[in-house]
Amino acid sequence: MPHLKVQMAGISMDSPLVLASGVLGVTASSMRRVVDHGAGAVTTKSCSIHPRKGHPGPCIIPYEHGMINAVGLSNPGVDAVVNEIRTYRDECQAPIFASVFAGSVEEFGKVTRRIAAGNPDLIEVNVSCPNVQSEFGAPFGASFEDTAAITRIVKKNAGKIPVAMKLTVHCPSIGKMAKVCEDNGADVITAINTVGPGMLIDVGVKRPILSNKMGGVSGAGIFPVALKAVWEIHRNCNLPILATGGVSNGNEAAQMILAGAHAVAIGSAVYNRGVEVFQRVNEELLEVLELHEMERLDDLRGGAHE
Ligand SMILES: Cc1cc2nc3c(=O)[nH]c(=O)nc-3n(C[C@H](O)[C@H](O)[C@H](O)COP(=O)(O)O)c2cc1C
Repeated sequence: MPHLKVQMAGISMDSPLVLASGVLGVTASSMRRVVDHGAGAVTTKSCSIHPRKGHPGPCIIPYEHGMINAVGLSNPGVDAVVNEIRTYRDECQAPIFASVFAGSVEEFGKVTRRIAAGNPDLIEVNVSCPNVQSEFGAPFGASFEDTAAITRIVKKNAGKIPVAMKLTVHCPSIGKMAKVCEDNGADVITAINTVGPGMLIDVGVKRPILSNKMGGVSGAGIFPVALKAVWEIHRNCNLPILATGGVSNGNEAAQMILAGAHAVAIGSAVYNRGVEVFQRVNEELLEVLELHEMERLDDLRGGAHE
């Protein structure tokens, strides 16, 4: 019988589908709900050492081809997230990935040490958020040197917990960036974060709709960009890839796996299609395995490169 079990950096998952960071990953009960609907793992919303309010509304706008958001990394601070991870652990077996961000290399080390106290299955390092540039400047993920330094300090502070570096396409070469992460000790590459920033204007009032004016673009429109990024990462580095960007059905998830992904995260499609999207994509992935008379997703992985 075909099955969807996968292993990524030593983490066992019943399904390759992961809740992407920033979407429902705020409370233990919302994350548990996602697992109940078929996700193999969940990612918490990115947290910083201290709580952050983020940008005022409107901060999430759907449009015809996806979404644009400038949530601004609002979060309750790392210690509150550690408590939430502990509550989740009491209720749920599926792996939990903790996402962190910071404003300097040293701070990345500190927030990693603090989140590691919650013992998540993976620490995902967000060096790629595009909607806080007014505060932090260009994402660290645009620079090989910064990304290398952050990878090293995070690894030093993560103990035995595997580390995923979450990359942006807005860098000189995402394939080379992934290799830099590998050479500096990363265990997984997550790709990609939102694209842009982009903008939408309300023609009626002749003003940008987001209060922050610009925000990261996600959803269906960025799928081909994310897929090509995964393809390039697979060709340049040997780390497992958590593919993220515009996936909303089994065909797209299978494309990510054929390009080289071990697991596939879903974010915006949860807004459009509800948490039921996980169960549906699982069923559609099983159909792909049956079509190719394959037992496991490992047999599909990277197949588009042969
Ligand atoms: C409303 C919203 C909030 C997000 N917040 C975060 C975040 O806190 N940390 C992060 O690494 N990515 C964040 N992302 C990016 C997603 O995790 C994902 O990388 C991106 O949206 C592409 O996947 P998708 O097209 O399936 O949404 C956010 C995305 C959205 C739409």
